[in-house]
Amino acid sequence: MSVTWALPFETKIQPKLNGNKQVTIETYKEIHQKSIEDFRGFWASVASELEWFKAWDKVLDDSNPPFYKWFVGGELNASYLTLDRHVRTWRKNKVAIIWEGEPVDENGNPKEKRVLTYYDLYREVNRVAYLLKTKYGLKKGDTIAIYLPMIPELPIFMLAAARLGVVFTVVFSGFSADALASRINDSEAKLLVTADGAWRRGKIINLKEIADKALEKAPTVKDVIVVRRVGINVNMKPGRDAYYDELMKQVPLDAYVEPERVKSEDPLYILYTSGTTGKPKGIVHDTGGYLTLLHATMRWVFDIRDDDIYWCTADIGWVTGHSYIVFGPLLEGATEIMYEGALDYPQPDRWVSIIERYGVTIFYTSPTAVRQFMKYGDEWVKRHNTSTVRLIHTVGEPINPEAFEWLWKLVGRSEVPFGSTWWMTETGGIMISHLPGLYLIPLKPGTNGMPILGVNADVLDENGNPAKVEERGYLVIKNPWPGMPLTIYKDPERYVKVYWSKFPGFFYAGDYAVKDRDGYFWILGRADEVIKVAGHRLGTYELESALIENPAVAEAAVIGIPDPVKGEVPVGFVILKAGYTPSKELEKELQETVRQKVGPIASLNGIYFVSKLPKTRSGKIMRRVIRAVVTKSEVGDITTLEDEASVEEIKKALEEFRAELEKTG
Ligand code: WT7
Repeated sequence: MSVTWALPFETKIQPKLNGNKQVTIETYKEIHQKSIEDFRGFWASVASELEWFKAWDKVLDDSNPPFYKWFVGGELNASYLTLDRHVRTWRKNKVAIIWEGEPVDENGNPKEKRVLTYYDLYREVNRVAYLLKTKYGLKKGDTIAIYLPMIPELPIFMLAAARLGVVFTVVFSGFSADALASRINDSEAKLLVTADGAWRRGKIINLKEIADKALEKAPTVKDVIVVRRVGINVNMKPGRDAYYDELMKQVPLDAYVEPERVKSEDPLYILYTSGTTGKPKGIVHDTGGYLTLLHATMRWVFDIRDDDIYWCTADIGWVTGHSYIVFGPLLEGATEIMYEGALDYPQPDRWVSIIERYGVTIFYTSPTAVRQFMKYGDEWVKRHNTSTVRLIHTVGEPINPEAFEWLWKLVGRSEVPFGSTWWMTETGGIMISHLPGLYLIPLKPGTNGMPILGVNADVLDENGNPAKVEERGYLVIKNPWPGMPLTIYKDPERYVKVYWSKFPGFFYAGDYAVKDRDGYFWILGRADEVIKVAGHRLGTYELESALIENPAVAEAAVIGIPDPVKGEVPVGFVILKAGYTPSKELEKELQETVRQKVGPIASLNGIYFVSKLPKTRSGKIMRRVIRAVVTKSEVGDITTLEDEASVEEIKKALEEFRAELEKTG
């Protein structure tokens, strides 16, 4: 079936030039073509801009696809490249991170700010590395888990681990005890770093309590380091738990730890992400390729310069924060903002006030955030001077042209370069984007632009042929790229199956996309059962398994439906076991089960009780059919449907629900 998409292809926007090199679309395509013809040579020249302890012997080992290895034989260290290299230069006392805490005083003014120079960060990372090495005996090849809110200790522990060649896995602080336990168990982490609590919208989340619950089921962790953030009393298990500040008192101020010479293809971290089926996948990223991609994209996409104040609003618990708060900006010696809390707390203008107070020049945020700001109204933005902003990008999901235009006009003065960077946890860094730091082509609201240099992306139809212009197809990457995953941790077969089997030889991203007549890419959304809630990636499988764990539930299906602010929200359909009857209380209870099992970020936007679910004859739930009924769109081909009555069931459940809503207003 060929679908033609009505996208605003004609609206081209010409941003103001700011030293950027303006090129025509045709010229960019020619440059791009050259870069992918010899992508090995191209990426080798980029990688040589980093400082290697030892140069590589081979740019790309492709002897065992898809397990590619970049810059084989090369040795480097991520902590050395982000810190030591800068403290030897004038950047020693340059500000690396300006951190602002969420809490405000009675006048609504921020109460806490910490400024860390490159030298400060270097010192702290060395001291923590010293602690991990001498007190805990951690060494290259060990794994630690980090479950922290957005406080400076989070990047500090990541960089300290990297300094030792210790692999880390960061678990987003909005995840539940169960989610944390499963990540610790899969990664076999020996040590956990957490905090007493976290601030969220003025409330305290008892992080240590959640961590303790997780640790009951996660026996690999022998030691726990607790950072005091909110100052509450927590349970400390003797012999296992220790406070960070107390531990650090025993570490010399000038402790120095030699950065481990890690191989380019040694893992830097594991980050868990949701897929179509099964438990979250541990994506393993290498060191040399990953840092090469970040170096390139920080320059090409963000045009990073020494006088910039860069702000990426993501949480470090997700890949965006790993790449574009921790490793990317610090690799480039940039000054960046790190903000702890909600962008609209205590008032809708917190984010613009941060831009104004620190003079943010580069702003990287999410479409969800923009739509939320838009809802609060222009007035909140106009209270602040945002004229320092010179570059904007968004990430996480497609940006609708309305949101693009709103932000471009109000904060971008209808003149700054503004793109939507497409990438994913697996790609390590940005893959499709405008490159205002390199060559600037006209913008179009909502597009992702073109693949970056050295990356051969394409849109294919179901048979693996290039999709026609403006025809919806599947997004693939046709060549190995630095920053690609090494594998899925402990499950290489799954790595091959999920990403390299639909179109053999190519990386399958799992996204629908179209290419327009200018060759611009428009990523339309997931082609699988992954849903993006406020830009966060959730697998329907995880939510369904959570529901099924409740004793009342026999079967469950979760789908994502469109939401004006969050992009998508999950809703659940549930078949109860005999003896249970639908009720508001049970709905509440199930909501709670999901929060407990997955975390507060996963709450369902409605649970519907049904007695049948649409399934194929082989027993697979047809979520596509449910989605069509919910969104009142074409149900499409249902020839494989086992029982047509199930479609009616869902319609009925929805109608009853809607009638209920009308009654209660
Ligand atoms: C999925 C990956 C890597 C950044 C954070 C998300 C969607 C991401 C865009 C964009 C349209 C986008 C895709 C992708 N996505 N950026 N600019 N335009 N869609 O990482 O959690 O691994 O999610 O996010 O659907 O597959 P992630």
